[in-house]
Amino acid sequence: MSAPSTTLQGTPRHVAIIMDGNGRWAARRRRPRMIGHRAGARAVNLCIDFCLERGVGALTLFAFSSENWGRPADEVGALMKLFLNALDREVDELHRRGVRVRFIGERGRFDAGIVARMDAAERLTADNAGLALSIAASYGGRQDIAAAARALAVEVAEGRMRPQDIDETAMARHMALADLPPPDLFIRTGGDLRISNFLLWQLAYTELWFTDLLWPDLDAATLQRAFDDFAARERRFGLTGGQVASEPTTDTNAP
Ligand code: FPP
Repeated sequence: MSAPSTTLQGTPRHVAIIMDGNGRWAARRRRPRMIGHRAGARAVNLCIDFCLERGVGALTLFAFSSENWGRPADEVGALMKLFLNALDREVDELHRRGVRVRFIGERGRFDAGIVARMDAAERLTADNAGLALSIAASYGGRQDIAAAARALAVEVAEGRMRPQDIDETAMARHMALADLPPPDLFIRTGGDLRISNFLLWQLAYTELWFTDLLWPDLDAATLQRAFDDFAARERRFGLTGGQVASEPTTDTNAP
């Protein structure tokens, strides 16, 4: 995917989602939190189906933040099992449907079994040209920015880059998802109005959309509402309304 983001709103080309509310969904049913996460995994499938049907180019899902490691050990353990099962169950079908799967975040923090399955899923689907599905796992936006800064520092130390040449383009090259246009549309379920250390760099000009709906309750009508609201927005990328009306513009960080 190398097409730039433009101000012409149709279907968003890249959608990024914080899937929040699994725990509350379970609590409302007086069930353990893990039941909510399992229901959340079903909503992931619905969301992927919707994006495939609408011809969305890229979907990035926040599955597990760097901070989520601090949750109670039994919840973390059960989530890991859920991820493992989902990888075993879904990857072949995603491959059949032309989805390219990748994981962003600190892979080294996961058990070897999960890392092996992540690697295998990426290898299997690497040449697919359909939906680019990125799963953010042990991911943090600040950590992503720090890693890019570190990579540039290494280039400088090795004499391949001059400090005065470090600019946004150089940083963007080292950020996660560098080959994709930045997200056009960010969706967060669960009622909280924050970014929670998700794609901090990449969301600079993304349209934000929030809903009180809990993630396991996600349905196509809600996603359609988000897409419709997105289509009605004017994106100016720092310019004036008059300027963007006469000439569509883009996020300057788009690859
Ligand atoms: C946030 O809800 C959700 C998570 C930390 C886990 C997300 C996991 C899934 C949606 C399931 C499977 C995902 C994949 C990619 C297979 P929360 O637990 O913070 O909910 P709460 O705010 O109601 O407590």
